[in-house]
Amino acid sequence: MKRTILAALGLATGLAVPAAAQDFKVGMLLPFSGVYASLGNEIETGFNLGIEKFGSETDATFEIVSEDTEVKPPVALGKAKKLILQDKVDVMMGIVSSGVLGAVRDMVHGAGVPLIVANAGNDEATGINCSPYITRMSFSNGQVNRPMGKWMYEQGIRKVYTLAPDYAAGRQMIGGFTETFTAAGGEIVGQEYTPFQKTQDFGPYLAQAKSSGADAVFVFYAGGEAISFVKQYDSFGLKADLPLYGSGFLTSPLYVNAEGPAAEGVITALHYAPTIDSPENAAFVSAFKEKTGRAPSEFAVHGYDAARALIEATKAGATDRETLANALRKVKFDGPRGTLSIDPATNNIVQPIYVYETVAGDGGQTQKVLAKLPAEADPANGCEMAPVSN
Ligand code: PHB
Repeated sequence: MKRTILAALGLATGLAVPAAAQDFKVGMLLPFSGVYASLGNEIETGFNLGIEKFGSETDATFEIVSEDTEVKPPVALGKAKKLILQDKVDVMMGIVSSGVLGAVRDMVHGAGVPLIVANAGNDEATGINCSPYITRMSFSNGQVNRPMGKWMYEQGIRKVYTLAPDYAAGRQMIGGFTETFTAAGGEIVGQEYTPFQKTQDFGPYLAQAKSSGADAVFVFYAGGEAISFVKQYDSFGLKADLPLYGSGFLTSPLYVNAEGPAAEGVITALHYAPTIDSPENAAFVSAFKEKTGRAPSEFAVHGYDAARALIEATKAGATDRETLANALRKVKFDGPRGTLSIDPATNNIVQPIYVYETVAGDGGQTQKVLAKLPAEADPANGCEMAPVSN
């Protein structure tokens, strides 16, 4: 019925309206190996669940072509080229590492292929290097960490030591935190960036943190590095005297059980926790648990919401790369993490940020939400958004 009306309108106005259900080729660019492999698998699971849940709302169908970035920017660039030029995908979805996003940005922008970023927080992709073809459904590195600088100062913390892996995400996450913490009056008494994907022993850095005179430590680590870091922090006996804070990827529900009791008491900020109390989240958590037997993480939500955004874009009448790019920028809905929308000035997501503490739960570690901080759009950071022509 809906299509009959659209087709009739199309005839009357001369607009191109698809006569039959359209199949969209989706290039999924994720790490299925390397330090972020578990994150890639989780995003894929969330995406498939989103297609399952919302797919019946659209006549469109989706054919997925997956490629492994291996968390290596040059490998990812080769895979992006293959998806765009050889597979001729209509849209791309994925990317976990900020380094990978930085590497594929020009290719995606130049080819005019819409990309739904389902993790990588690289501030520049929705800042100085923004593109009308790049829409982020996950978070930006600054967005997650800026609210925490102010919040920690308000809790009475004055001196902080920071640590993060030495690549774009590490530097931007610590940068966002530092900006608001020092603006509030706090002091960074020491800071190190550890070699990304190469650091196994955090001992020397933890010794420096201990002797720095800090009241607390603030870090960004994710995936395998987060598990090693949290365990070593605890076994060094630092947690009692030098409380550990960070962005919530540090204690993600995806791997907090691998960290075990070492993660308890760690306080972090993130745009999602599976314990958020809302009907949308309850429905999502229960559907995800039914599929996997465990609670979803922020990475699952990125995939789930990316699928929903894609479906919303096709419902809004998108038929090709240009119309998809334009429709993706207008997506707005209440999802598991709260009300979210896309900032038209940058194409970055706007969403609330939650402060949560990892605590002991019935079947392992769980997330106790301490505060919900209001959604704030990122500063444009040099983004001058040109419209997509269609
Ligand atoms: C990133 O590189 O942008 C990144 C990777 C893993 C995370 C968060 C951000 O958990």
